Amino acid sequence: MLNAAPGIRLSGFCPATSWECVDVNIILMGPQGSGKGTQAERIIPAYQLVSVATGELFRKAVGEGTPLGIQAKALMDRGELVPDDITCALVEEKLDEVGARKKAGEPVSGILFDGFPRTAAQAQRLDAALAERGDKIDAVILIDVPREDLVERLSGRRTCSSCNAVYHVTFNPPKVEGVCDACGGALIQRADDTPDAIAKRLDAYFGSTAPLIDFYDARNLVTRIDGNQPIDVVTAKITAVLGPTK
Ligand code: AP5
Ligand code: MG
Ligand code: ZN
Repeated sequence: MLNAAPGIRLSGFCPATSWECVDVNIILMGPQGSGKGTQAERIIPAYQLVSVATGELFRKAVGEGTPLGIQAKALMDRGELVPDDITCALVEEKLDEVGARKKAGEPVSGILFDGFPRTAAQAQRLDAALAERGDKIDAVILIDVPREDLVERLSGRRTCSSCNAVYHVTFNPPKVEGVCDACGGALIQRADDTPDAIAKRLDAYFGSTAPLIDFYDARNLVTRIDGNQPIDVVTAKITAVLGPTK
């Protein structure tokens, strides 16, 4: 349930009726390690959003050994992008799933895109797919972190093998080493958090994804958040932009 707030123009907001009817689609942007997944974990339940995180979807497919997972695994481990057609088809499938959930009366306030779109072609196809469904992107939140801090964040990251919760050995350690606070699952290091793959992923971000900031800036959709602050402070800044939770 989102509210309009200074700095962001949630154009679905209708003060004349009730903000509860607002349906917003938000893109969480930022380089690898900027904290998109960490913040998504907190924002999604607070605002009853649905997550569309392409990296998570690909890792799930890899874990299940599906044909998509087998194709994606080699690319991901090398830090390369999965082809646009495959990625966009997966996202469109998720859009239809969310549409079906809303139709069934589930309390869904919109979608939080994490890690998508990452190329100009993906951004254009997302616009078209949303338009076909009578929808659009309402806001882009950019988490800014200097490149030199990202490698330390990624090399110390640990992820729950069961619920995907994100930790850091120094910046956000679990209560018991190697064990997820939320579900007791085992914490693992991602296969693409190797020095070579990290460097490649960051090159891909600054080469192909960062130019999308201008694409959305031209539509006045981008709010920049300084991600080089403690996790709770970043969450508070994002919440201030999105408005109070219900
Ligand atoms: P994806 O899963 O999206 O990974 P990524 O883009 O590499 O981003 P990360 O998950 O690494 O960073 P994050 O911003 O979520 O950081 P996190 O919160 O974990 O994609 C993986 C792969 O899938 C891609 O390389 C590609 O192959 C493929 N793929 C995915 N989407 C695709 C697409 N659209 N097109 C094509 N291919 C696609 O935080 C990182 C660490 O920092 C954690 O340890 C955390 O605890 C710590 N941390 C977080 N915030 C803070 C803070 N404020 N202070 C200190 N530490 C912090
Ligand atoms: Mg992530
Ligand atoms: Zn867990």
